[in-house]
Amino acid sequence: MAAAVTVEALRKAYGAKVAVADVSLRVEEGEIFGLLGPNGSGKTTTVECVQGLRRADAGRVDVFGLDAVHDAAHVRRIVGSQLQESALPDRLRVAEALQLFSTFQPGGPPWQELLEEWGLADRRNTAFGDLSGGQRQRLFVALALVANPRLVVLDEMTTGLDPAARRVAWELVEAVRDRGTTVLMVTHFMDEAERLCDRVAVLVSGRIVARGTPAELVAGVGGRHVARFTAPTATDLGFLRAIPDVDEVRTGAGGDVAVTGSGPVVARVGHALVSRGLEPEDLRADGSTLEDAYLALTEPGGRAREGG
Ligand SMILES: Nc1ncnc2c1ncn2[C@@H]1O[C@H](COP(=O)(O)OP(=O)(O)OP(=O)(O)O)[C@@H](O)[C@H]1O
Ligand SMILES: [Mg+2]
Repeated sequence: MAAAVTVEALRKAYGAKVAVADVSLRVEEGEIFGLLGPNGSGKTTTVECVQGLRRADAGRVDVFGLDAVHDAAHVRRIVGSQLQESALPDRLRVAEALQLFSTFQPGGPPWQELLEEWGLADRRNTAFGDLSGGQRQRLFVALALVANPRLVVLDEMTTGLDPAARRVAWELVEAVRDRGTTVLMVTHFMDEAERLCDRVAVLVSGRIVARGTPAELVAGVGGRHVARFTAPTATDLGFLRAIPDVDEVRTGAGGDVAVTGSGPVVARVGHALVSRGLEPEDLRADGSTLEDAYLALTEPGGRAREGG
């Protein structure tokens, strides 16, 4: 396969703050590649360097054979961007914005089609300043696609979208990929990454700690069994750690508990709970998900970083 994007030993600091310490990655032409990682881990900085919007301190970015620094103007013409923090003039109307952007690089889908696809047809005459957050977000994705890019960069595309709009956005992004456009996306939603991305990389503190298909990342953390339930937040769940083959007990906000282990761990958890008078109605068995793998990879002192 041909590479759409090659990043080699990228480094970028803002003053004393190192945002990207050392990132190398390769996005294949025609795939959806996801960049995952905690807030501040360097994802936006990385994709901005890929788009030629930011100049790295060291390393190299190549986009379809073009150098993102020396050929920045050319790179920007073949890359469609939905930036994490964008704005348009408040009085610019939705249809005007799409029409304007479509003139930058003719040959893309008709902008009227994007208006329909992204659920903005009834907002076509609305000024940008009067759009809701989710409507603005959808407009930015449509604008990223209107110039028929070879590569589209989506930085938190579905943040702020309602659940139905998210599903629609996933289908549209798949359709974009199926028409041959390469997609580089940043997301905090692991269900979205699992569903959409052909391959992902996980960034922690400006370095990649894991990469592969979502299934490879899940298998990489052991592909374990998980018992999930909710418990009143003050409940002492220390006894769960003593159950044979339990590796980890994770408690989340709202009393969510995930007990991970191997073998018949779910049955043993159920038994231990009931024998202590705890009968959660929502006890369920799960396989590991990308979210579990992500949490294991990104937690302080997590397995990904044990080796440095
Ligand atoms: N323009 C800037 N000036 C100074 N520091 C910056 C700037 N942009 C980003 N940073 C810092 O660089 C680090 C990486 O930021 P970046 O925006 O790349 O992270 P991110 O992974 O996209 O995070 P998020 O998930 O919150 O969007 C952060 O510590 C941030 O504070
Ligand atoms: Mg960001």
